[in-house]
Amino acid sequence: WELQLPWIDAIQRLKQHRRALILAHTYQAPEIFHGVADITGDSLALAQAAASAEAELIVLCGVYFMAETAKILAPGKRVLIADALAGCSLADAISAEDVRQLRRQHPGVPVVSYVNTSAAVKAESDACCTSANAVQVVESMGTQRVIFVPDRYLGSHVAAHTEVELILWPGSCEVHERFTARQVREARRQPDTRVLAHPECRPEVLQEADFVGSTHAMAQWLARERPAEVALITECAMSDNLRAQFPEVRFASTCQLCPHMKRITLPGIHHCLLSLEHEVKLDEAVSAAARRALQAMLKVGR
Ligand code: 13P
Ligand code: SF4
Repeated sequence: WELQLPWIDAIQRLKQHRRALILAHTYQAPEIFHGVADITGDSLALAQAAASAEAELIVLCGVYFMAETAKILAPGKRVLIADALAGCSLADAISAEDVRQLRRQHPGVPVVSYVNTSAAVKAESDACCTSANAVQVVESMGTQRVIFVPDRYLGSHVAAHTEVELILWPGSCEVHERFTARQVREARRQPDTRVLAHPECRPEVLQEADFVGSTHAMAQWLARERPAEVALITECAMSDNLRAQFPEVRFASTCQLCPHMKRITLPGIHHCLLSLEHEVKLDEAVSAAARRALQAMLKVGR
């Protein structure tokens, strides 16, 4: 942290000078999450914050689909990302043409896409969702069947919590799918260790968990339950960031790093504030269609 302080100071000054708003996902490193962000949260919280932002300049600390989402919801603002190559295996798992093909195969069945998708895929969807509101969004379609893309594990978790029949796509998060049920059992070192898992994990991993939820829901659960020890089955930064908030809770070291999230660094954020580089630009028609799907998600809320 001490080594990072000059960067944090410089970013804070530049941020004020630019009147910028910094949004950071829960998987961002603590020096970003606690050091420079104005608003932190899960994918849904960041989308809501972008939609109501007053600042003319938004710096999104997270992966590219999150910056695109911010731009779609705040089309009049300038949205920057420190590294435009910060991708996501889920967003890469499906294309707009794949969605059109699914619609041809299942005529009349609405499409719900996870926000971890490109703007072009969102533009082909009826609604987007995050892991915080996937069941509610699926049910808001009012149909017996829904095409749900691209995360098959989140999809099967949602399917277990709704009567709606889901048509799934074989996408997955390269980070969460690395966890195994055995690892989770080992993480439960003490009988009172509680296990919290993200729904992007495999079903056999989710079965071992005491609680399954989005990153925001996991943080809320911790605030409510305050266990002596917890194992967070998700990206490593989540434990690092919550450790500061809950010093009395012991965090087991079971976690996986997302290489895409880790492309965002303090020097990168400083550079993008200084140079105004890596601005998100979108085709207007794609952006307008994607906005409808995102607004359908925001209407459902959390
Ligand atoms: P949430 O913040 O919506 O839980 O998503 C997790 C994730 O994998 C984002 O990359
Ligand atoms: Fe994508 Fe998984 Fe990384 Fe999230 S953790 S950005 S879903 S690869």
